[in-house]
Amino acid sequence: MTVEVKEGQDIQKVVQMLIEHHGHEKSELIPILQEINSKFGYISDDAITEISERMNIPSSHIYSVATFYRMLSTERHGQHVIQFCESAPCHVAGGRMVWERLQKELGLKKGETSEDDKWTLLTTSCLGAVSYTHLTLPTKRIV
Ligand code: FES
Repeated sequence: MTVEVKEGQDIQKVVQMLIEHHGHEKSELIPILQEINSKFGYISDDAITEISERMNIPSSHIYSVATFYRMLSTERHGQHVIQFCESAPCHVAGGRMVWERLQKELGLKKGETSEDDKWTLLTTSCLGAVSYTHLTLPTKRIV
């Protein structure tokens, strides 16, 4: 992270600071989106609009980038995002039982976020971690 964001700071100011830091080049779009995603837990419509206006990039292009990469999200996630592997090797290794238990313990279904905004349960393809069958990725959020 390169720009310090204070709690409650509005997205317009954050985008302004990130563009001042990274520059207006189109090649800086992904680093800027990564920082917004990391700081807020997702990339909001307001963030996309602000980036579009300040970097002169069509919002449709920004949205396509933000939805292409799994590391980015246009939907608000919880503080901790659990990505559960749905690929065959994990399934064979007993992943289905772990998946069912996870859903039961968290009270969540695929794609849902807990009411306390702490957990999000997602599925993914192979993460190269068959023996673990799931992975918790903590995110640093300010709001
Ligand atoms: S098959 Fe599940 S992590 Fe690779």
